Amino acid sequence: MEKFPIQICPSILSGDFGRLADEAKKLEQAGADAIHVDIMDGHFVPNLTLGPKALAAIRKATRCFLDVHIMIYNPFDYVEVLVQSGADRITFHFEATEDVEDTIAFIRKCGKKAGLAFRPETSFSMIPKYIDKCDLILLMTVSPGFGGQKFMPEVLEKVKLTREACDKRGIRQGGISSQGLTLPPFDIQVDGGINHETAPLCVKAGANVLVSGDYLFKQPDMKKGIEGLRHCI
Ligand code: DX5
Ligand code: ZN
Repeated sequence: MEKFPIQICPSILSGDFGRLADEAKKLEQAGADAIHVDIMDGHFVPNLTLGPKALAAIRKATRCFLDVHIMIYNPFDYVEVLVQSGADRITFHFEATEDVEDTIAFIRKCGKKAGLAFRPETSFSMIPKYIDKCDLILLMTVSPGFGGQKFMPEVLEKVKLTREACDKRGIRQGGISSQGLTLPPFDIQVDGGINHETAPLCVKAGANVLVSGDYLFKQPDMKKGIEGLRHCI
């Protein structure tokens, strides 16, 4: 398999909520490819986290790409306010709406990237029809709702099948073009329990965008932590 460039997205959910702006600056300076912001509604998942105002405060503090993962029902209704609050990509859950295609289209109409997320228990068979309709597929490697949970290795097979489905449809797998240029792969993101042991398994299966919360925020040096994850493959 070709070697992909790996993107590291630290999850600010594991940061200090009393100092969100400083945390965002720290992540940008440490070389994060994107800052992952988890928004939860207490219904789709049993937890409440940040909302649009906190997202806007993060936006003000950094120029880093903001990767907003929404774990809320009726995601369509929140696209506009999240775009106004500074989201660069909005990833919503397949299981949270009947209007998957309309929601993707609306996010794109707002000029932002659209990601589609799948819970660990959702079957791979639901995925292929969307891979050429969105910008990123997020395969949850824990049950969404909380940081610091244990990685679920059974999701690796779904990552592999998703990457294979991309290849079959001719959606770029990444690598080097005949002109020597590095081609970006279609983005397959994993989120939950990602550390130096689980990241290589995910990349081997075909993921190229890694979210990590607890593990990165426990590192004594964020920059070294991010570089370590990027190169542990
Ligand atoms: C969980 C969130 C994750 C979480 C990951 O529902 O979507 O983004 O912050 O955190 P860790 O890396 O601690 O599992
Ligand atoms: Zn997340």
